[in-house]
Amino acid sequence: MQESVTLTYNGRQIQLPVVIGTEGEKAIDISTLRANTGFITLDPGYANTGSCLSAITYMDGEKGILRYRGIPVEHLAENSTFKETAYLLINGKLPNREELTRFSIMLNDNSLVHEDLKAFYQNFPRASHPMGILSSMVNALRSFYPELGTLEEQITITMTRLLAKVRTMAAMSYKISRGHKVVYPRPDLTYCENFLNMMFDTPVKPYEINRAAVDALRVFWILHADHEQNCSTSAVRMVGSARVNLYAAISSGIAALWGPLHGGANQAVIEMLTQIQADGGNYQNAIQRAKDRNDPFRLMGFGHRVYKTYDPRAKIMKKMCDELLESLKISDPLLDIAKELEEVARKDAYFIDHNLYPNVDFYSGIVLRAIGIPTNMFTVMFAIGRLPGWIAQWKESMDDPKWKISRPRQVYTGANECDFVPIHLRP
Ligand code: ACO
Repeated sequence: MQESVTLTYNGRQIQLPVVIGTEGEKAIDISTLRANTGFITLDPGYANTGSCLSAITYMDGEKGILRYRGIPVEHLAENSTFKETAYLLINGKLPNREELTRFSIMLNDNSLVHEDLKAFYQNFPRASHPMGILSSMVNALRSFYPELGTLEEQITITMTRLLAKVRTMAAMSYKISRGHKVVYPRPDLTYCENFLNMMFDTPVKPYEINRAAVDALRVFWILHADHEQNCSTSAVRMVGSARVNLYAAISSGIAALWGPLHGGANQAVIEMLTQIQADGGNYQNAIQRAKDRNDPFRLMGFGHRVYKTYDPRAKIMKKMCDELLESLKISDPLLDIAKELEEVARKDAYFIDHNLYPNVDFYSGIVLRAIGIPTNMFTVMFAIGRLPGWIAQWKESMDDPKWKISRPRQVYTGANECDFVPIHLRP
């Protein structure tokens, strides 16, 4: 028998069905609420609202669990490649050899970008933020590569184009920003190797593949590949629900990710740690400011809407950070500051009471710095990693026979009807 909850108002009762997910998560289905009662629900920030049914990613914020298509992210970080994880998210299963080969060939074949795109890059003001550029360029892709159509195979080509080209475009933007010659993708390199080669190879200093850096990038991208209905993914689904093209939907996701409370936190963490270093390592000041209700400052890389325990991605990232720095023989003072900051924060009553733990962004910036990625490119690195998740979520929403255009309601709190006052009579 289907469970339900009873809503009682003014002596009238209505039954609302309960929806139970495969991991036992429960939701009250309110889709008939307004039609039956005239009421809507109010939930600023959607903290209690499930916007969809989804079979892609499962997370449990209390237990610190994250799984893609049922597979724990720890196992994927240990055993998988980013390419394979992307395939898993988008197609719902790990590829067999033949499918993986086909996917690799498609990624390689689509990895070049139209040469005319370079002119766009060159005309952005020099100080433009790479996330603004990436969001605009992904939207511009629609003009160069129109969506092919609605057949499964045609959608697959558009999705593969994005996965292949965004990586090339990100490296290209870095090269152009430095005034250097663009490096093209190579068919003999893996997805991660290719990116690092396009970033760091120069005619005067050929890039030597560094295994530790490649592996760190692989794990970094796997850890960022999806995170269910976060702000940018919800943006992709919402914009996509108007049936815009996939490029436009992804471009909106990139714009949302840019924010410092979301993906932009990885850049903000490094800026915060650098400031603490400049202040002579005085992290107590940062802690005090974060606790001060009258100060808008927050400890960047701490806290999460869903995780009320240690973010499982942060655990892996912290371990990887230690291993990478040791393997590259780098000593980064920001890592010492980050660790001390974490230790102090985790013993502090404010952070304990508010369930504030390091999130994925707290140590990821130090990993990216060690690989040689410039700070203003950090969020772009996140965006490349999140692409498979955005695409998978967009595809799931497009395939949903019950999908509707996203259109929340509001509770109006403005003025009641009033007269138009001609300008000469206004006070
Ligand atoms: N530092 C200090 N206090 C914090 C922090 C923080 N980083 N995060 C939350 N709090 C406090 C808030 O001030 C609030 O306190 P109050 O209840 O006493 O007023 C309480 O904790 C709850 O905070 P909310 O903003 O309501 O929590 P929410 O779930 O809406 O926000 C968020 C989550 C945006 C991630 C928040 O923790 C934050 O701003 N963190 C810093 C930015 C960051 O690291 N973002 C990356 C998140 S991971 C990602 O998107 C990839």
